[in-house]
Amino acid sequence: MPMSDADSALTLLPDYPLRAHNTFGFDVRARFAARIAHAAQFDALHRDARIAHLPRLVLGGGSNVVFTRDFDGVVLIDEIAGRRAVREDGDAWLVEAGGGENWHAFVAWTLEHGMPGLENLALIPGTVGAAPIQNIGAYGLEMKTYFDSLVAIELATGRSERFDAARCAFGYRDSFFKREGRARFAIVSVTFRLPKRWTPRLGYADVARELDARGIAPADAAPRDVFDAVVAIRRAKLPDPLALGNAGSFFKNPVIDAAQFDALRAHAPDVVSYPQPDGRVKLAAGWLIDLCGWKGRALGAAAVHDRQALVLVNRGGATGADVLALAHAIQRDVKERFGVELEPEPLCV
Ligand code: EPU
Repeated sequence: MPMSDADSALTLLPDYPLRAHNTFGFDVRARFAARIAHAAQFDALHRDARIAHLPRLVLGGGSNVVFTRDFDGVVLIDEIAGRRAVREDGDAWLVEAGGGENWHAFVAWTLEHGMPGLENLALIPGTVGAAPIQNIGAYGLEMKTYFDSLVAIELATGRSERFDAARCAFGYRDSFFKREGRARFAIVSVTFRLPKRWTPRLGYADVARELDARGIAPADAAPRDVFDAVVAIRRAKLPDPLALGNAGSFFKNPVIDAAQFDALRAHAPDVVSYPQPDGRVKLAAGWLIDLCGWKGRALGAAAVHDRQALVLVNRGGATGADVLALAHAIQRDVKERFGVELEPEPLCV
């Protein structure tokens, strides 16, 4: 499609309220915001003298960020739209979506178009462009499994680059974009490779249980059944950010070495654990926090969700500092009782 001048025009919105742009619902403001609907607008941005020296922050759905104060810079709201099947080969479909597309709507769209694979990641809040940044995962699947490549713009230069999976360096809730690439790129589009040979991923006990409760045998499970089961599990356990501000899991599940795990198990024989391929062991942070008695407890207006101890919530009027104070108290207790460090999952700004 030919590009018009309007496609690259950039409107700076001063003193912009961010409450509707972060799922914790923190009432903070940005010195400037710009809504980005076309990749070309990023180019206009890096040449704009008014904001040349200000820090930038790209926001998708704001579902993985903790604002602790007003942002003295430019918030770029990624609203780049578009979903399309790019091509197919004998084995797979290649599907591309704009960075600003809603993730859950995109997953539903792939299923409606007969291209399953992403159903275990249904109902994860946020945008397609944010998905690779922390390699979103749930119910036995990580995004990286079906990732093909992405296009990102380097904010300092306006240059567009394609990243394959190796360059993204995906890890557990981690990627290049959370480390060396942090705050340097905006994600314009993401391409997924969805294999035509589909098998349900029912390895996660909650999913198998939910299907069983619905009278669906594993061999009969269709993609839509898995999608519906995942949606039901998430609705039952995780608070809806529109009703109760939160950013999903607040901590990563910690991975410890075998010796530390043996010592821990000696004190807590029923510790929930997932052995890793490298011999280390992943623990359920929610279980550790729960055992420390934090589930459902509050510190001011910030609280631990009463159905999932890994989720911190804003009961109304909490600030980012309130949530961080609660997070620190939890980290201290878990460290004291289990000797385990909990690392926050969201970005603190
Ligand atoms: N548990 C408790 N008490 C709690 C919470 C959990 O005992 O309050 C126990 C559960 O009984 C279970 C274990 O801990 O044995 C794991 O709990 P759950 O299945 O709810 O998953 P999780 O490890 O707490 C992770 C992801 C979630 C993802 C789910 C399902 C991380 C940091 N979190 O949570 O992702 O939806 O698994 O796959 O890896 C997110 O990243 O924002 C997120 C919600």
